[in-house]
Amino acid sequence: MSERESAAVQDWARSIEGDLEKNNAHKISIRINGARHEFESGREIQPMDTLAFLLKERLGLTGLKVACDEGACGACTVIMDGQAILSCMTLAVEVDGHDILTIEGLENDDPVVRSFAEQCEPGYGTAMQCGFCTPGFVMAAKAVLDENPNPTTAEIKEALSGNLCRCGCYAAIVRAVQAAATRMNAGRVEK
Ligand code: FES
Ligand code: FES
Repeated sequence: MSERESAAVQDWARSIEGDLEKNNAHKISIRINGARHEFESGREIQPMDTLAFLLKERLGLTGLKVACDEGACGACTVIMDGQAILSCMTLAVEVDGHDILTIEGLENDDPVVRSFAEQCEPGYGTAMQCGFCTPGFVMAAKAVLDENPNPTTAEIKEALSGNLCRCGCYAAIVRAVQAAATRMNAGRVEK
């Protein structure tokens, strides 16, 4: 290839690179636990990055757990615009313009967190043994209680049916959600 041809090829390659950068340089804006975050698509967020990856690996929000990484266990559950979603099955770019709540965004005295903690006390059975599934259950329970303050036992089981607990704490988890509902409703009456 002559020098002239080689320079032309280099120019062409540079222009393609420029076009790609321009197409990728799109800002992704996500509100996470009340704070607005902006990421440059193609640089800070890659098209195939999952929301779980963004939250855990990029932002250090390690409360959510990635167990199956294929939508089968619920351990990675977070809340998007009030709905429980699986962060391992959601691309980070899909969340542009949305509100995300992770377990780190809950208050320490959040009624659901308190109820799960109490269901570990002796005499209650336990809603939490190894605790690996707990953040996912807490977020799924929070989403259902925000939508339905008085769920029946069947409705609680249905709402949490996508979450697995390998320690088998299901009965106490349901009791924890019922206790959280009672606590939230009492709080509403007091106000
Ligand atoms: S890690 Fe997301 S559903 Fe299992
Ligand atoms: S408490 Fe161990 S997996 Fe649920």
